[in-house]
Amino acid sequence: MTMEKTTGYHSVSWSEPIIYQLGGEGRRGFRAPQTEEEIKGSVGDVLSQLPEKMRRRNPPNLPELSEPEVVRHFIRLSQETYGVDSGIHIHGTCTMKYSPKMNDAIARSPKLADTHPLQDAETVQGTLAIMYQLRKWLCELSGMDEFSLQPRGGAHAVFTNARIIRAYHNLKGQSEQRNEIITTVLSHPCNGGSPAAAGFKVITLYPDEETGYPEIEALKAAVSKRTAGLMVTDPYDTGVFDSNIDEYIKIIHEAGGLVAIDQANANSILTKLRIGDLGADLCHFNLHKSFSTPHASTGPGSAAIGVKQELTKFLPVPIVQFDGKKYYLDYDRPNTIGKVGEFYGVVPNMLRAYAWILSMGAEGLREASEVAVINNNYLIKKLLEVRGVTLPWYKAHPLRLQEARFSLQKMKEETGVGVEDVNHRIVDYGLQDMETSHEPWIIPEPLTPEPPETVTKEDLDRIAQVMHDISREAYSDPELVKTAPHNAIISKIDKSPASDPTKWAMTWRAYIKKNRSERQ
Ligand SMILES: Cc1ncc(COP(=O)(O)O)c(C=O)c1O
Repeated sequence: MTMEKTTGYHSVSWSEPIIYQLGGEGRRGFRAPQTEEEIKGSVGDVLSQLPEKMRRRNPPNLPELSEPEVVRHFIRLSQETYGVDSGIHIHGTCTMKYSPKMNDAIARSPKLADTHPLQDAETVQGTLAIMYQLRKWLCELSGMDEFSLQPRGGAHAVFTNARIIRAYHNLKGQSEQRNEIITTVLSHPCNGGSPAAAGFKVITLYPDEETGYPEIEALKAAVSKRTAGLMVTDPYDTGVFDSNIDEYIKIIHEAGGLVAIDQANANSILTKLRIGDLGADLCHFNLHKSFSTPHASTGPGSAAIGVKQELTKFLPVPIVQFDGKKYYLDYDRPNTIGKVGEFYGVVPNMLRAYAWILSMGAEGLREASEVAVINNNYLIKKLLEVRGVTLPWYKAHPLRLQEARFSLQKMKEETGVGVEDVNHRIVDYGLQDMETSHEPWIIPEPLTPEPPETVTKEDLDRIAQVMHDISREAYSDPELVKTAPHNAIISKIDKSPASDPTKWAMTWRAYIKKNRSERQ
C-alpha cells in the first residue's frame, strides 16, 4: 500500500535551502537613502565615535538577496508550517483556540502601536483605560479583588505569586521559617518550578489511584509551621477538577499559609466557577490560553495574576488607577514586590483579550466554556472506541472539563507502538501532533488532546478517524507507525543530541569541539 493511499495527504515540501545559500553578492532588497549632507555635517562621522576595538574590521557576512527572493523564501517556509490558522490544532494544556484577526487588527492600530511606554500617562489614557477595565473583568471572572497584568506568561505569573507569598510572610517576620510550598504532581510543573526559582523548598503530592487527586491526609501530613503556601493547578491537565480544593484551602489557612491556584485551564469554567469564591488567595490566568490571544510561540504570551484584598499591597508596580477624571500609573506602593517586567506588560495582548471579552460578553464566555466541554467529552467518547486507548480515572471521572489525558499503554504492550510513534504518524495524516504530558509521566504513554470551542464536530470526527486508522496500522503493521513520519517535511528526529550528555552541545563552539574530538 502506498503512503498516498494510506493517508491521502501531502504536505507542502519545498526542500528550501537556508537563507545563506540563496541570493548572490551585491543583491539588495532595499537601498537606504544616503544621509543628507546637512545631517552629516551636524552629526559628524558616527563610526569614529565608537572605540576602535569595538569596530568591525570586516562587514558582517549577511545574506544578500533581492526583495522577491526574500518574500518567496519566507512564504515557502510559512507553507511548511502548521498552526491554528492552517489546520486543526488541539495540542493539550495549551487551549489552542483561534485568535480572531479583528483583535490583531485592533492591536496593530497605530493608536497603540505608535505609542511609547515612556510616554506621559496623560497621553495614553485609552491604553490605561483598557488595562483598568480588563483588570476589573478578570476580578469579576475570578472572584479576586485586584489584578496585575505584568507577568509575561504562566510560569512567570506563578513566580510572581510565589514572590507575593514570600512578601506576605516577610511582613509578618515569618519568611525564614515559612520556606516550603506544597504542590501536586498533576499541576503544571511551573507550580513547583517557579516557587523553587523564587527560593522555596517544594513538596509534591501524588494523586490517589481512585480519584486522580491527592488524599486530604497526604496534604495534612505535608503541612507544617514551615508551610508558606499551596500552589496547584485546578482544573488539572487531566481535565479533572480537584474537588478537595476547598478542603485544602481550609487546611492551609489554618496552618497560616496562602493558596495560589493556577487558572490557566480556566477555559472550561469561565463564568461558572470563581476560584476566589472557594477561598483561594491568589490565582493567575493565561491570556494566551483562555482569552484567545496568540500563544507564546506565535507572539509574546501574557498572563495576569489576581489577589485578594489583603495581598493587593504586594502587587508589582505600576498599578493603573483612576482618580475620577483620569487614569494614572501608581508607583507609590511601599509594600510592592517591585517590578517583574519592564514597562506595563504585553499591551497588545491585553488589548486582544479586552476585545475578545468585549465581543463575547458574559453570555458568550459562558457559551465558549460550555462548547469546549462538550467538544472534549464528544472526543473522549470517540477516542475510547479506539483500540489500545484508555482513560485513567475513568470510573471516578467519566466526564472531563477542558481536556483529557489518555493512555496508550495498552497499545504499547500489545503492539510495541507507543505514544511518540502515534504522534509522529498523526503528522503524516496532516494533523498537528498532540501533547503527551509534562514530566514526570505518571500516566504511561500519555496523550493529551484539548479541543477548545473553536473546533467543529467535523474536526473532532476527523481526529477520531485518524486515531482509528493509526491504531489499525499499529495492530497490523507496527513498523509503519514506528518509522513515521513518512510524509512530513522532517523525518524522525534523532533526539539523542538533545538528551544524551555525551552528544549534546549547548553552544556552537562546543558542537565543533565535540565533533572534532569524535572524528579523531
Ligand atoms: C495549567 C498551566 N499552567 C501554567 C502554564 C505555563 O504557562 P506559560 O507557558 O505561559 O509559562 C501552562 C502552559 O500552558 C499551563 O497549561
